Amino acid sequence: TTQVKKICCLGAGYVGGPTCAVIAYKCHDIDVTIVDLNEARIAAWNSDNLPIYEPGLDKIVFERRGKNLFFTTQVEQAVIEADLIFVSVNTPTKKSGLGAGFAADLAYVESATRQIANVAKSSKIVVEKSTVPCRTAESMRTILEANSNENIRFDILSNPEFLAEGTAINDLLSPDRVLIGGLQTPEGIRAQQALVEVYAHWVPTDRIITTNLWSSELSKLAANALLAQRISSINALSAICEATGADIDEVAYACGRDTRIGPKFLKASVGFGGSCFQKDILNLVYLSEQLNLPEVAAYWKQVVDLNDYQKKRFVSRIIKTLFNTITNKKIAVLGFAFKKDTGDTRESAAIALCKDFIQENAKVRIYDPKVSTEQIFMDLSTPGVDNLDALKKRVTIAKTAYEASEDADAIVIATEWDEFKELDFPKIYEKMHKPAFIFDGRLILDAENLRNIGFRVHTIGREDRDFY
Ligand code: NAI
Repeated sequence: TTQVKKICCLGAGYVGGPTCAVIAYKCHDIDVTIVDLNEARIAAWNSDNLPIYEPGLDKIVFERRGKNLFFTTQVEQAVIEADLIFVSVNTPTKKSGLGAGFAADLAYVESATRQIANVAKSSKIVVEKSTVPCRTAESMRTILEANSNENIRFDILSNPEFLAEGTAINDLLSPDRVLIGGLQTPEGIRAQQALVEVYAHWVPTDRIITTNLWSSELSKLAANALLAQRISSINALSAICEATGADIDEVAYACGRDTRIGPKFLKASVGFGGSCFQKDILNLVYLSEQLNLPEVAAYWKQVVDLNDYQKKRFVSRIIKTLFNTITNKKIAVLGFAFKKDTGDTRESAAIALCKDFIQENAKVRIYDPKVSTEQIFMDLSTPGVDNLDALKKRVTIAKTAYEASEDADAIVIATEWDEFKELDFPKIYEKMHKPAFIFDGRLILDAENLRNIGFRVHTIGREDRDFY
């Protein structure tokens, strides 16, 4: 088999960066070069202040950078030298044209593929790392083969990434499985084996699964659809709990104790976010429609619809509880990232909540330990709210949770950051308007304890207990 000595990764984002940093960390005999067109991002990867926050990432990068781990904007050079190239560029949902709002925008994947075809002077293994619609490898192969000659061949593999943001380094160091799809031809199998050997540096071989290309591509969409479906299922049940007096945490625990169901990914919340779940399900919906399977499309679409409903439902409950108006009321939003331990805000539920609060003319005060002020304003000013000055009259950013909740009428927990569990709530209560409300969108607070302090507490998946 081919032995991989030099790896290049196109795309230094949340996936390309951590994944390839871990490969460099575990394979000292392989040189890993991560390239990106975005100069600022590469400059940050080469600085003390990495462009993404991920627990444990900096240690690994600082240890290998300059030894066998490199970050550069010199795409051409890195492609020419590599035996294996990961394509880890973004694949957002298309905003316009055919399949707008559902299909993945493959423009970045295609231009990365053409770039490889244009500059390669020797044979390469090209690995789809980005999440792509089923059969994208086929298009990549067509582009590459149209550009190969008797001296150069391109083998395409699919190696979707299953890391979760916030736990990326642990997920990469000890993955449940690594999935490698390839064409089931002698050359395809040889390429597959070459990538298996890279992972085998640290992943037990029984955790490295090899399949055909299409199974691998579809498995990534399927895995995200199944995960998101569990969240929408528990969130749908949370609505029933609120109306009946059942407690969603108790229901989730009771159900999760069934080993066929299992306890993970059954936490009710204000809704899932992140760059992947919604995008990948919509992608699957689009695929189903293309395949003329409307019932299948509708089934998966409902997972996304329920998620939107959950966010809207939470906002309605907040407004209703605050005496049917939040005009000029101060709402402290704790957390802006889509989940804890990441600074990523893509599709964060907090964005939807804040936009609704702004529409209702509330004053919104946001605190998040990892998200920058610029990022928050960028997220809130894209469509709907266009005037930044007007926005800044409604929205302010606080440096601590205490600052955010001063003089507030209500606190809304939007992200499950651990530090929110440890807050000095008697101190917060003292400085809030009365009655002081807390809306726990992540089910992380001890409601009884807060009620004893004097708060009125409303939690997703629990019946309202304040009657007045
Ligand atoms: P990202 O947006 O953070 O990073 C993509 C990077 O690719 C950007 O920095 C962009 O400048 C760069 N890029 C675009 N075209 C390029 C080109 N031709 N040459 C070099 N660089 C180029 O995106 P992220 O989050 O890393 O996602 C990448 C892919 O991985 C997506 O398909 C996503 O669905 C998938 N994925 C993401 C996960 C996540 O947790 N974020 C998890 C698993 C898969």
